[in-house]
Amino acid sequence: MKVKDTMRLLTLAAAVGAAVLAAAPALAVSTQAPLKDVHWSFESPIGFYDQEQLQRGYKVYKEVCSACHAMSMVAFRNLGDKGAPFYDPKYPNPNDNPVVKTLARDVQYPDIDSDTGEAIHRPGTTADYFPNPFPNPIAARAANGGALPPDMSLLEAAREGGPRYIYSVVTGDGTPSPAGLNVPTGKYYDPWMPGDLSGNWTGDPSKVPVGGFIAMPPPLTANRVTFDDGTKATVDQEAKDVAAFLTWAADPKMDERKELGIEVMIFLVIFAGLLYASYRSIWRNVGH
Ligand code: HEC
Repeated sequence: MKVKDTMRLLTLAAAVGAAVLAAAPALAVSTQAPLKDVHWSFESPIGFYDQEQLQRGYKVYKEVCSACHAMSMVAFRNLGDKGAPFYDPKYPNPNDNPVVKTLARDVQYPDIDSDTGEAIHRPGTTADYFPNPFPNPIAARAANGGALPPDMSLLEAAREGGPRYIYSVVTGDGTPSPAGLNVPTGKYYDPWMPGDLSGNWTGDPSKVPVGGFIAMPPPLTANRVTFDDGTKATVDQEAKDVAAFLTWAADPKMDERKELGIEVMIFLVIFAGLLYASYRSIWRNVGH
């Protein structure tokens, strides 16, 4: 290696080192309470989504969260796919599924009249994506005190802890803040929102509370929705169900993948049995 190259490498290493050092303090102080210990049917390697739970979760999303959070990568027809909240084996093609069609038709989409060219609204179809609550991110921030409600299509996959994170943040939002913590206006204390509260803490510096502030008013209250299957709509139930729905949205093929996995395991067991039987039969008459 030439001297020039070595120098370049050293400079690069120094720059990377400096960047890591600069980032380290910021990372080190972000705290968060341990996620709540909640469990779902789909957690184990052979566990599947609970379809009724997904339907309840969809209702919570639609009637509560969708006022602020978009899910721009989910189309209505996805709700009728295999493993989805409204899958019905009678309608393998989700575009024929009457429940899905009705859900889509309930939404009005802006469009252009193909005869007159005028701006109109038309009922949604199964091919439409979930409507956005705001026309653009600027409007979304303006309506939420400057904070942007993240798109929920992939939120579950993008956050450490997945559904437990969503459950914990949503149920922890609005936790009474400890005395000595200055909560800025328009923000709420949430022990499960990763953050650094040291700047707002007036108490003992060694006892800075864990968690952060969130610009989302606590979204759930008991009976915020009425579940069609008669399940009692407690905050806990609503949070669990919506977290399950968001997990499905981020990983809609989980059920199919696990089914295939189980089939492969069964095949391997049978195959191993056959292999053993043929081994026995081939070596039957060979002395050893
Ligand atoms: C009134 C508007 C509003 C409603 C309704 C709402 N949210 Fe939020 N949500 C926000 C905003 C704004 C943020 C961003 C907060 C921030 O950055 O401080 C947010 C953030 C979140 C976060 C943290 C996201 C992250 O980046 O880690 C989760 C989880 C969340 N919302 C879940 C929900 C769920 C589930 C519902 C429905 C039960 C819901 N929200 C309803 C406005 C809303």
